[in-house]
Formats: sequence, C-alpha cells, structure tokens
Amino acid sequence: MGIKAQAPIGIFDSGIGGLTVAKEVKKLLPDEQLIYFGDTAHLPYGDKSTAAIQAYSVKIADVLIKENCKLILIACNSASAAAFELVKAYVATKAHVFNVIDPVVNYLREVHAGQRVGLIGTKQTISSGVYLQKINDLDVGIVLKSLATPLLAPMIEEGFHNENISKEIIASYLSQPALKNIQALVLGCTHYPLIKKQIHAFYEEEIDLIDASETVARSVASFLGYHQLLAKKVSGMEDRFLVSDYTVSFEETTKLFFGKQIKLQKYPLWE
Ligand code: DGL
Repeated sequence: MGIKAQAPIGIFDSGIGGLTVAKEVKKLLPDEQLIYFGDTAHLPYGDKSTAAIQAYSVKIADVLIKENCKLILIACNSASAAAFELVKAYVATKAHVFNVIDPVVNYLREVHAGQRVGLIGTKQTISSGVYLQKINDLDVGIVLKSLATPLLAPMIEEGFHNENISKEIIASYLSQPALKNIQALVLGCTHYPLIKKQIHAFYEEEIDLIDASETVARSVASFLGYHQLLAKKVSGMEDRFLVSDYTVSFEETTKLFFGKQIKLQKYPLWE
C-alpha cells in the first residue's frame, strides 16, 4: 500500500453525530489532520434500507479516497452495520478502513466474556444483527440483548439530553424486559455519548457503559502507532468538515457533538 503517515484521517457519518467520534480521535491524536464527511442530505441512516446506506457510504468513501485519506473510519453505527464490508472491498489497498463495531466487540471479548450484555442503537443497527453475529462468532459465552431505541438520536439532536423529558424516555427504553440483568451496555450510536450521564444514573453506575467513540479512537490510535502511520503536526493542515447539505442549524449543532462550533463546508455527493 502506498499509504503515507502524513495523509489525513477520513471520518464519515450520516450527519453531525459522528463528531462525537471525531472529537475522541482528535483528543488522542491531536497532530492528525481530520477530514470529516457528514451526509446531512441523507440523514438519518437509522431508518434507511441497507442498499441505500451502502450506496451513500461507497460514494463518501470515494470522496475520502480522493482526499488521499490514509484511514477511513466509519463513525456511524448504522453505516458500520450496513456497509463496512462493501466499503472495505471498494477501498481495497488505497486506505485502511475502520468501523465502530469491531473495536467494541474486541473490548467485549476481553472484558465481558460469559456475561449478559445489552446493546442499544438505531433500527438499522439492531435489525442488521451484525453485533450479534460478531459476538456469537467469538464464542466466549456473551449473551447479547439488543433493543432499537430510535427516539434517542432525534431527541438528542433537538437538544433534549439533560432534562426530565429525556430522563423519562431513557428510563422507558432501558426498563424494557429485553435489557434485564445486563452487566454492560453498548452505546451503539454516535449520539449516545451525550446521554451517558443519564444512562449511568439510571443504572446507578452499576454496569459498564461502553462508549464506542472512545473505544474506536483508542483502536485507531494504536493501529496507526503500530504501523508507523502517525502524522507529525504540520502547520496549515487544518481539519476539514464537509457536509452533503448545509444549514445553519447543522452548523450550530456541531457544538453539541464536537464541543465547539466548527465551520461546515458544503460538498454535494451527487451534482
Ligand atoms: N449516526 C447514526 C448511528 O450511529 C445515528 C443517526 C442516524 O440514524 O443517522 O447509527
């Protein structure tokens, strides 16, 4: 592979939520240049068909290859579930491809073998059965209990993530029989790190909450380190944040997910 350490890291998501992943990557790897792509023209992915998500994901991967990215990280759980294998085959040797599911599955094998583990995510992520399949393939006695929680992402996006309405909705999902007696819960959606505190409060801090954004950032950092692909800081190499559709509201929402407001640049997927 002619992959260069100084090349940027590409990160993509259905929209702005994947900035939670970008934020963790930036925290661990401040010297790297990020090129983020949010497919705001087509969000949400969580309710889309597998075929549609695959088509969007390949198109975005193409943009990130043209931007010369050394690694493409699919930050979106729904796209990781629906399109990882396809994107990996498409990208081939041009870049390394990561998803947000495998690092979590590896963590579960190391820490939660033999336990009951819950998973929450979009309809697409849960109905794909990808987590279940990967966990069953591990064959370490993990019993996975999954629940689609489709109201949570729009609720968080609309700013309801730290108040009574959100507390009620979270409690009503988490008290479903499907999630009884779990010892860990995978937050299988870009948006859920924002309600981690409330989920912790619901479980009275008694179970392990697995934040995919932190887990995947650690995995990318150690992969790049191991393969001597870590970049050195170069001035003038700014991070870029591309979106397939621009609105002021998308730009304002970046603060919620990235910790500070950033400038979005419109980059239509299809002209
Ligand atoms: N980014 C999506 C995910 O992680 C959530 C938002 C959407 O449905 O597009 O599954």
